[in-house]
Amino acid sequence: MSTTPTHDSLSTMDVGIVGGTGPAGRALGARLASVGFEVVIGSRSAERAQEIVDEIHKKWPDRDLALVPAANAVAASAPLVVLATPWDAAADTAASLRAELVGKVVVSMGNALAKVDGELRAVVPPGGSVAAGVQAALPESLVSAAFHHLPARALGDLDRPATGDVLICSDHPEATRATAELVRRLADLRPFDAGSLAAAGPVEAFTAVLLGLNARYKGRATIHLTGIDDSPR
Ligand SMILES: NC(=O)c1ccc[n+]([C@@H]2O[C@H](COP(=O)([O-])OP(=O)(O)OC[C@H]3O[C@@H](n4cnc5c(N)ncnc54)[C@H](OP(=O)(O)O)[C@@H]3O)[C@@H](O)[C@H]2O)c1
Repeated sequence: MSTTPTHDSLSTMDVGIVGGTGPAGRALGARLASVGFEVVIGSRSAERAQEIVDEIHKKWPDRDLALVPAANAVAASAPLVVLATPWDAAADTAASLRAELVGKVVVSMGNALAKVDGELRAVVPPGGSVAAGVQAALPESLVSAAFHHLPARALGDLDRPATGDVLICSDHPEATRATAELVRRLADLRPFDAGSLAAAGPVEAFTAVLLGLNARYKGRATIHLTGIDDSPR
């Protein structure tokens, strides 16, 4: 495996998903594999990773999905790594993989949410966002925040295109570019540079509003911006 990918050198192999066995990680992994990426589905338990990969292959028997089950440390050895653990485990998990992640683009997709009075509400984590906490835990990595607003059910339904806009925040232009390239490979998703990691807090927090809408309207809503085009900068 090579080291840090650039936006125009992103290989069709080697995306690692740490915490890839949950709904979000497995949906993203299946979607990336459906367009030709080789994806390492990481877990704290290699057995669980195997179970989940078997489930995905069973669900989509006619698709050639290059999914590799592995321990999180193996997933973190991929050139580009997505962190898909629960939000409150993201920084500690990242810190435990710091050596594997040096110099790499690490995409944080965690949303800090808590259920209060039956409603999911946004929580402000230390540093202002989940992604900021991950960046603080990984000072030698290039952290971006992305994929917060895509419901796993829609992302993982390979019979339908995944549609919507993906807001990307990072303090590293290289991470924004590499993340945007990843998104661009998934036809019908549009990547947008949403600014520095300082913007990740409100981006993450808005997920609470979307989840509330989806619960009340029984939908799969995501965001789609109007009045802007997504030409690469
Ligand atoms: N679900 C969605 O629709 C969605 C959409 C966008 C973003 N997100 C965000 O994506 C992240 C993952 O969401 P999810 O619903 O897939 O979460 P999840 O199912 O709660 O967790 C994902 C995986 O993380 C691992 N994990 C659980 N507790 C952990 C801990 N304490 N330390 C390290 N790893 C742990 C588990 O894998 P192993 O037991 O196999 O290690 C689990 O399968 C969340 O931060 C969420 O906010 C979710």
